Amino acid sequence: MTSTLVTGIGELVTNDPAAGDGSPLGLVRDAAVVVADGRVAWVGPAARAPDADTRRDLGGRALIPGFVDSHSHLVFAGDRAAEFAARMSGTPYDGGGIATSVRATREASEAELRALVAARVAEMRAQGTTTVEIKGGYGLTVEDELRALRIAGEVTPETTFLGAHVVPAEYADRRADYVDLVTGAMLTACAPHARWVDVFCEPHSAHAFTEDEARAVLVAGRDAGLGLRVHGNQLGHGPGVQLAVELGAASVDHCTYLSDADVEALAAAADTTVATLLPGVEFSTRSPYPDGRRLLDAGVSLALATDCNPGTCYSSSMPFVVALAVREMHLTPAEALQAATLGSARSLRREDIGRIAPGCRADLTVLEAPSYLHLVYRAGVPLARALDLA
Ligand code: NIG
Ligand code: FE
Repeated sequence: MTSTLVTGIGELVTNDPAAGDGSPLGLVRDAAVVVADGRVAWVGPAARAPDADTRRDLGGRALIPGFVDSHSHLVFAGDRAAEFAARMSGTPYDGGGIATSVRATREASEAELRALVAARVAEMRAQGTTTVEIKGGYGLTVEDELRALRIAGEVTPETTFLGAHVVPAEYADRRADYVDLVTGAMLTACAPHARWVDVFCEPHSAHAFTEDEARAVLVAGRDAGLGLRVHGNQLGHGPGVQLAVELGAASVDHCTYLSDADVEALAAAADTTVATLLPGVEFSTRSPYPDGRRLLDAGVSLALATDCNPGTCYSSSMPFVVALAVREMHLTPAEALQAATLGSARSLRREDIGRIAPGCRADLTVLEAPSYLHLVYRAGVPLARALDLA
């Protein structure tokens, strides 16, 4: 076992209040971290650092927990740039374009899809993301969803079965048959390759699933041993948030339109259900941003993620998401960074990521800057990258 002493950390964000200055970010100045066997072995002021086999000097740069991107749809072929352009000129998003990506994804070979996913994960890592959750959802047949999950499972343990993304064209006149397929043969084939099940619950889209359909999908997934995630309240007020809370989902994502009752339900369920905000989606669909400040003040457990997908947000950048959350959702830079690391780790029910503390995975992101504040202060500048210690 080789250990590495990382020194020259001008500012360390631990997300461990006990370890640092007592703030939620647990800041340590002039810090050092010892990594052994892929895990954090020691954290503290450089002056008290123990010895290690090798050393790495970061020259005063800031070090933060690697970003946890807890919501993405990376297994797709093609893009929908023209649809994006139309939206920027006022065309609303309704989920109909998903069919375009389903066609392109079905037509792609397994090798092509694998290469596309690998390139997207590398693009994320180059921007500081060290964990990514990946959903299927652009196959919508048993074979194509299974293929998507197998490819996703090669790059992350956080794989999500999303057979209930939309009702595919061939089932347009027999929705109930498609829900039966998703909760039957498709789930049986996919469950061994997935940790989570998700559903696009959205009464404002003819392509997505109603409350009853979504409940059937989630209950079947839970019975098959999967954890629950929900796409909810994206296009308008709806049942997604309440359904997620009712079923004890780990996360309800989007939360663009929330009633007072939704906020109350999320606050009451904060130990169980995380609200994952996806500001890149509001950016890319010209939608109003949800009020993250209101959610935090109400006691809701908050996460941030990209939702990287060809329709509503073709951005893999967690720094972009953090900057949007500060500017448009009224989070402080510290709150946004914590939501994009510790908060999103919680939404995946992971204790070993999202923090820099002894025993955690050594998922470290270095900034080309002296402080985490520069992530927002210098928005758009490529400051963050995952630290490779090997
Ligand atoms: O999370 N809303 C549903 N699914 C994706 C968009 C998928 C697409 O448009 O291709 C989302 O926004
Ligand atoms: Fe999504």
